[in-house]
Amino acid sequence: MLARLWLWLGRLLGKTLLTLLSVGVLGWAVGAAWFAWQQRGPVSAVEQIPDGEAAMTQDVIQTAVRIVDQHRESTRYLRDAHAKAHGCVKAEVRVLPQLSEGLRQGVFSEPGKIWQATLRLSNGNAYPQFDSMRDARGMAIKLLDVPGKQLLGNRQDRQEQDFVMFSHPNFFVSDVAEYRQNVAAQADGKKVMAFFPGWDPRSWQVRHLLIALQTLSAPPDSPTQTTYFSVSPYKFGEANAKFRVMPDPDNCPAYALPKQNQDLPNFLRSALNQQLSTDRVPACFVLQIQRQDAHKFMPIEDTSIEWREQDSPFETVARITLPAQDFDTPALNLQCDNLSFNPWFGIDAHRPIGGINRLRKAVYEAVSDYRHSRNAEQ
Ligand code: HEM
Repeated sequence: MLARLWLWLGRLLGKTLLTLLSVGVLGWAVGAAWFAWQQRGPVSAVEQIPDGEAAMTQDVIQTAVRIVDQHRESTRYLRDAHAKAHGCVKAEVRVLPQLSEGLRQGVFSEPGKIWQATLRLSNGNAYPQFDSMRDARGMAIKLLDVPGKQLLGNRQDRQEQDFVMFSHPNFFVSDVAEYRQNVAAQADGKKVMAFFPGWDPRSWQVRHLLIALQTLSAPPDSPTQTTYFSVSPYKFGEANAKFRVMPDPDNCPAYALPKQNQDLPNFLRSALNQQLSTDRVPACFVLQIQRQDAHKFMPIEDTSIEWREQDSPFETVARITLPAQDFDTPALNLQCDNLSFNPWFGIDAHRPIGGINRLRKAVYEAVSDYRHSRNAEQ
């Protein structure tokens, strides 16, 4: 009697598991098919600006300034994002000597040209924390003495071209509306609301939460040993493109970084200092461009979508060298903090495009002006 009961229970359990497995596989297949159908080309090759974007941008500025106030250090106002620098270093950006016609755009027009540049390496968080914490890592490059009309009317005397990147290929929000909602929830300390704004499951941003979790990654051994992505698109002459900067140790003298004590709060700065200042070994990167193919799913208005390399490969346009140097002095660190990088500091050939970049135009300037004016008052 008992044996039959056990057999019956076993069969029931087996059938239940089989049913659950089948439903799971079917759900996954339907989900994958729906996703593939949604994420297909062609896409627009021009910007499409939604109604109400300007008003939403003003809201974001207010939230960003609130975050700067929340996280001010005891004496200084820091950046709203990427507050902690590992250092600002001098760099040389050398356009490849041989470049196909289509890749000769903007600051890459002249093969072999060498630009002097300043490069800031950072952690992504809004306030400084231990480098061992999971985080995005930032790289901002400023090419100096760039001729031509600057995009922002009030920056005509600056002659610069900035490239602003972090260490993940896609962003945890798609557009301005979603950014506004997400960042407001975060500033109020409501982290769950950032991705689950209401009871309606259609408003839940599970995929974007996964992107955010992937973006917050374990630290590299050194800021010179990770890849940085533009995430959002830019003009590249007549084309649209994203870019990335990738370590290129093969074009530098062989170097093995001695093991750093990763329990120290600023070990990424120590690693950079060890290579460039103590061991006097340069670091090398390549700067690469990925051009949009509008027949493929490579949208301009959705930064949560990584443009696939099989749809359009990255192509090297320049090599970046950080020469041996002493960058870690109190005077240079203060100068570094006082610099501003902004995707809109540059020329028309590399104009930022897409909603998140239009948002950044207003927000970076407002936050940078706010922290500089507050620091000047101290
Ligand atoms: C496309 C994705 C983005 C990337 C790759 C990115 C990257 C960076 C990096 C690397 C920095 C530090 C620049 C430096 O070293 O001075 C930075 C700063 C900053 N980011 Fe972003 N960011 C992105 C999106 C955004 C968005 C959507 C906003 C807000 C609308 C934003 C607001 C800021 C602000 C306010 C600063 C500080 C500006 C200053 O005070 O000088 N970022 N970002």
